[in-house]
Amino acid sequence: MEAINQRGKTVPKIPLIMDCDPGLDDAIALLLAMASPQEIDLLGVTTVIGNTPLENTQQNARRICELAKRSDMKVFKGCPRTFFAKLFSSETTYSATDIHGETGLGGCILPPPTMLLQPQHAVSFIIKTLLESPTKITLAPSAALTNIACALVMEPRIKDKIDKVVLMGGVIGLGNITPTAEYNFYCDPQAAYVVFTSGIPIVMMGLDVTRKTQTSEDWLNQVKSLRTPVSQAIVDMLSYYHRPDAILEPGVSGGVLHDPNVIAYLLKPDLYNGREVYVEIDISPTIMAGRTTVDWHGKLKLKPNAYVINEVDVKGFFDLLTERLKYYNSSPSSPSPEIKDCFQSPFQQTLFPDLN
Ligand code: BDR
Ligand code: CA
Repeated sequence: MEAINQRGKTVPKIPLIMDCDPGLDDAIALLLAMASPQEIDLLGVTTVIGNTPLENTQQNARRICELAKRSDMKVFKGCPRTFFAKLFSSETTYSATDIHGETGLGGCILPPPTMLLQPQHAVSFIIKTLLESPTKITLAPSAALTNIACALVMEPRIKDKIDKVVLMGGVIGLGNITPTAEYNFYCDPQAAYVVFTSGIPIVMMGLDVTRKTQTSEDWLNQVKSLRTPVSQAIVDMLSYYHRPDAILEPGVSGGVLHDPNVIAYLLKPDLYNGREVYVEIDISPTIMAGRTTVDWHGKLKLKPNAYVINEVDVKGFFDLLTERLKYYNSSPSSPSPEIKDCFQSPFQQTLFPDLN
């Protein structure tokens, strides 16, 4: 299958598997990918525990596919826990309901999914799809790397079938869950370690770059003005970051769209800049767990194992997102009234009364 690239050239479509924990920003990443069928051949969506328990992440992934009128999409349930257990308690997960809300979709209430969850385990799907594929496939994880690491451990031959892993995780600078660790890698440092020592080409979209793509009320107004069920759902989701009691990182004033950067990079790599560097994942059972030590200046003289992105054209990113969301206007299938009726968020009404 082929697509036309930014320079007008015919290029093959990107065969892609997305691995996620929706999650507000994961949801936007899914919508961006499904709005880009010219460039992306989305083979399946695998889910893992993360921002919210696995039952929520797999259901949310299906909800988002249905919202996008893609109930034909294959959604799989993956690992219900990560390798790593909390250091200082008996719990095994770090859900981020404080950031993403109880359901994981903030103030957006979507009906329970009707499309079926695929019977296969996510890890089995990843392995089978890769082994059977005549061409290499790109993986786009936007959560803890548990499913991907399990697949690599269970079936090392898949390595040769992976074109690259474009992931959201890690950070050169300060963490967002501990002083040094980013959430996805903190949730499963061992899994990140397996992936970063695999030799597979990695594009690392860490907090240094993703923190730059923050939502603003202006942009949410632009999205709202598209007046589709998808745009309304996005406003309902992302208004959650703008509510008065939202927990935002210091220096952050809106919702940080971490995960859509993974898809934006695949669609328009020219929006980004980075460096081929050596990255090591800290798997020590200490306060450093999940930290990414990024050898930005090549001090260690070690072979680079990742292309770490640190710059993004922020305007270009939001323009791309807004433009792609228009796909849902022209999409042949129009909103069903039942779904439309569900888009009533208290946050939206409070914060954006003029948008209704
Ligand atoms: C990452 O953590 C999750 O909460 C987000 O979905 C994103 O993938 C950012 O640290
Ligand atoms: Ca995520």
